[in-house]
Amino acid sequence: MELFRWFFVLACIASVSLYEITIESLQPDPASDPTAFNLGTIRLSRKSRNSFRISGTYYMLRNLGNDARVVLEILQRDPISKSFNRLLLRKENPMCEYMDSERMFLPHLREVSNLPPAGVCPFPKINITVDDFEFNESMFPPIIPAGTYKLRSRVFEEERQIIGMEFVVSIR
Ligand SMILES: *[C@@H]1O[C@H](CO)[C@@H](O)[C@H](O)[C@H]1NC(C)=O
Ligand SMILES: *[C@@H]1O[C@H](CO)[C@@H](O)[C@H](O)[C@H]1NC(C)=O
Repeated sequence: MELFRWFFVLACIASVSLYEITIESLQPDPASDPTAFNLGTIRLSRKSRNSFRISGTYYMLRNLGNDARVVLEILQRDPISKSFNRLLLRKENPMCEYMDSERMFLPHLREVSNLPPAGVCPFPKINITVDDFEFNESMFPPIIPAGTYKLRSRVFEEERQIIGMEFVVSIR
């Protein structure tokens, strides 16, 4: 979910000035470890044009320390092969460092959920209930080029993937 912040980077290579965002899917990455994370009842819905909300409860099923790493990626779909083979951005941070330093979405998410405050490390085993987390145009860059993008957020321990979320959006 936090991945939308990376759309700001896309603004730099933009060619379209008015856009509409359509959420194609939000789903757990099949490579995730079901004993570490469960998406639970989390639902994403459209509120109005370019405005969306997330509500529900997800389960963090074990502690995650700073040895866990968060990898955020934005991939663009090739219109011909239909595969997300173009990596536009990749960012990797230790878990706790990421949770402490992210400023775009987590502060607002903390207001509408029981997400632990910044500075809590390891990230605890906890059920996180989100009550109407809204994200909208005010958080997006002014310009995003048309296309279909996958925003992928994954957590690794050593080389093993334990959590993964995939968020596919179309811009037109
Ligand atoms: C989280 O919710 C599940 C399902 O409601 C429950 O079984 C579990 O005990 C809860 N875990 C915590 C840490 O509260
Ligand atoms: C965008 O969402 C924020 C909360 O995240 C809200 O305060 C603001 O009114 C919304 N703006 C629009 C234009 O919907």
